[in-house]
Amino acid sequence: MMYDFRHILSTYDISRDQAEFIIQTAKEFEPYAKKEKSSDQLKGKVMASLFYEPSTRTRLSFETAMLRLGGSVISVTDPNTTSLFKGESWGDTANMMSQFADIIVIRHPEIGVAQKFAAVSKAPVINGGDGMSQHPTQALLDLYTIYKERGGIDGLTIAMSGDLKHGRTASSLAILLANYNVKFRFIAPKELAMKREVKDLLTAKNIQFEETENLEEGIVGVDIIYMTRIQKERFESIEEYEKFKGTYVLHRKLIEDKNPDVIVMHPLPRIDEIHPDVDDLPNAAYFRQAGNGVTVRMALLSMILGA
Ligand code: CP
Repeated sequence: MMYDFRHILSTYDISRDQAEFIIQTAKEFEPYAKKEKSSDQLKGKVMASLFYEPSTRTRLSFETAMLRLGGSVISVTDPNTTSLFKGESWGDTANMMSQFADIIVIRHPEIGVAQKFAAVSKAPVINGGDGMSQHPTQALLDLYTIYKERGGIDGLTIAMSGDLKHGRTASSLAILLANYNVKFRFIAPKELAMKREVKDLLTAKNIQFEETENLEEGIVGVDIIYMTRIQKERFESIEEYEKFKGTYVLHRKLIEDKNPDVIVMHPLPRIDEIHPDVDDLPNAAYFRQAGNGVTVRMALLSMILGA
């Protein structure tokens, strides 16, 4: 079975069949990501990584994936070093970049920039995160992580905790998981509750979800807890952010007392929402999750650019 992935812009566009195909393809790339096998499948191909917002994992795992498949990378990590600084339009930038590169990965603080880029670009565009909206490849690697950690997706109850209003990872994943038979528990202060559009989608698809502000109660009985940070950069003022900073901190004792079997995920970076005393527990899947980013992104680059 093959799927034509020209662009990857939003998890709204990814069906269950497509997600399953990506999971299966990622499994085939495990030995390449682990350096047990090598490949030059993308030799001669160039990936442009255009990051107009900070990133460690997304940019560097995409670049690692491209290099491990024999391809090359050109990068922007500071917009002030590009002609955008001189006033060049997004459209012209997209036009130029798509003549230089075979594929473009873009992150930008403004919602919808990846879509605008894709509308003009002659090369495939991957959304590496657009403001508070979408981070589709994070959702795919999160799905792959759940699949690996739990052996499947259907039947699971997934808790998501933290800043569910501003965060793009939890909502992108919830939209993708809405293709499965799952239940959700959203743990957030009411001011930072899960986005209305996501809750409307779940209601329309008859997917059960509960909301609570209490982490100690929210962790009980779930298969996965997906922690997220309070998104400092999305608040109007530092005072507003300070009101919520440190709202939830997951400690080892809480896991041992309330749910010793739970799998703990986090898209990272973490600030203070998972105490380091959790790191040694087998439950802690967040560094394995980040590692899965290379595997899944190898699979995606191969599916889009490979033979
Ligand atoms: N998870 C994630 O998007 O991390 P970065 O911001 O470091 O890319």
